[in-house]
Amino acid sequence: MELIDGKKISLQLQSEIAAEVKTIISNGGKQPHLAAVLVGNDGGSETYVAAKIKACENVGFNSTLIRHTNEITEAELLATVHKLNADKDIDGYIVQMPLPKHIDEQKIIEAVDPAKDVDGFHPVNVGKMVLSLPSYISATPNGIVELIKRYKIETAGKHCVVIGRSNIVGSPMSILMAKNNAFANCTVTICHSKTKDIASFTKQADIVICALGKPEFLTADMIKQGAVVIDVGTTRVASTETKSGFKLKGDVNFDAVAPKCSFITPVPGGVGPMTIASLLKNTLLAAKKEIYK
Ligand code: GUN
Repeated sequence: MELIDGKKISLQLQSEIAAEVKTIISNGGKQPHLAAVLVGNDGGSETYVAAKIKACENVGFNSTLIRHTNEITEAELLATVHKLNADKDIDGYIVQMPLPKHIDEQKIIEAVDPAKDVDGFHPVNVGKMVLSLPSYISATPNGIVELIKRYKIETAGKHCVVIGRSNIVGSPMSILMAKNNAFANCTVTICHSKTKDIASFTKQADIVICALGKPEFLTADMIKQGAVVIDVGTTRVASTETKSGFKLKGDVNFDAVAPKCSFITPVPGGVGPMTIASLLKNTLLAAKKEIYK
């Protein structure tokens, strides 16, 4: 069993990005600039956005955090989005999800200029990704593909089972794994809340990608010997063992599943850090105008 060290690969990626930023600046270019919009004070969102801002510092990006309270109206949030679209100094930005219930998330996503949509959530970017045209690919699926590349995991002709069909992870992941390229070419099955007997599918899988948000859902009896297991789950559960009072739990019962695997990602330290590295990569692409000229 080999542990997939997302933290290590994320730091490698960040140092590659930092080197590119140095070159851009020494050639007289502008410092890449990422903005993040955070609405309310959800603990998870606070942590993720703080990590994204810190990562910007690590690679030499400029960053701007825009905070709004939960009481912000949809019109006010749209005004922030329009301002960021027009701001020439901002190369890319994200609006951290989830948003309060009174705000239509899809309306906000569609208001973001696709050229600045470094989350890859806008329908234009999703559509281009589906068609294999240059686009921003959303951070978590892109980070998983990067792990597959860097660990030289064999994918061609393999059966990949994706559990979960969210717009952010499961759906794009299933599309990326089926693509005709060196890091994919899988036969893909998507399992979801209405799938009957998920174990009957995961038992046949060479690669299982768990993105359903149910702690320790995948158990050892659900996979075959030598499977590759990618755990996207990050559910916060109360814990007396940590200072923060909570612990991140993956969708995989790691201790039981790991001995059966050829490769497995831990939680934390697997997919999570890659999400941030992918966001930085997309921001660099935005600054270099590589996707939208
Ligand atoms: N909420 C959970 N994951 C993400 C993400 O990748 N981007 C944004 N904007 N919000 C999220």
